[in-house]
Amino acid sequence: MQISIRIDNKKVRCAKGETILNVARGCGVSIPTLCSHEALLPYGACRLCIVEVAHRGIRRIVASCTTTVQDGMYIHTRSRRIIALRKTLVGLLASRCPDAPVVQRLAKDLGAAPMPPAPPADLCIRCGLCVRFCSEVVGTEALCFAGKGQNRKPAVAFFRNSQECIGCGSCAIICPTGAVRLHDEMNGEHPVRVMDTWETTLSVLRCRSDGVPVAPERLRAHVAARCQISEGFLERCLSCKTADTRILQR
Ligand code: SF4
Ligand code: FES
Repeated sequence: MQISIRIDNKKVRCAKGETILNVARGCGVSIPTLCSHEALLPYGACRLCIVEVAHRGIRRIVASCTTTVQDGMYIHTRSRRIIALRKTLVGLLASRCPDAPVVQRLAKDLGAAPMPPAPPADLCIRCGLCVRFCSEVVGTEALCFAGKGQNRKPAVAFFRNSQECIGCGSCAIICPTGAVRLHDEMNGEHPVRVMDTWETTLSVLRCRSDGVPVAPERLRAHVAARCQISEGFLERCLSCKTADTRILQR
């Protein structure tokens, strides 16, 4: 069902049930975000996407990523109140994460006044993207939030040696600040993947044909179970598979 709203005084027709953020983006209105991702359900953690809405005589400040449009709604994405609140929010984030380039860039773009660093400084902005991607997209539930208040942070169960983590690295890819680190190394003769942030080490499978490290064992098992791909296919490296395809094409 189509409804009518106004965004920054511009009349817009849109589908009922859409989020304010999606509708705004669809009509070229830019709203800053840090915890929203098109592959994930709305979460509302960073609050940077706040907008001011007026509907049926009530004015409210809401997170645009978790609030749906209503017929006749007036939405202001850059009112004075919103600009001031966003500056405060991003200023607080910038003081907590002084080494996160994405946060410092936003602080500069929004003209946020620098605040004294608030210990403990780290790179994590608690956006939850890593936790949600692990659960909603990868389907592993290896990550969750642990602790409260200032000490709340993403973690694996018991903070180390996760038995659920499959070493896919999605958390490191989706993290906007570079807070999640991993690396591959040799443990004697055996290749391993070390998820530094989660203090978890996984053994890595070698290619059946030429012996080069391919992927963590648990990742192979996870993909094989979910996608019904033959074990043989997943146990060979890309160059061996590509070479086979070339031979077949000759
Ligand atoms: S580790 Fe990265 S993705 Fe996870 S909550 Fe922190 S900033 Fe967000
Ligand atoms: S993008 Fe809406 S709260 Fe983070």
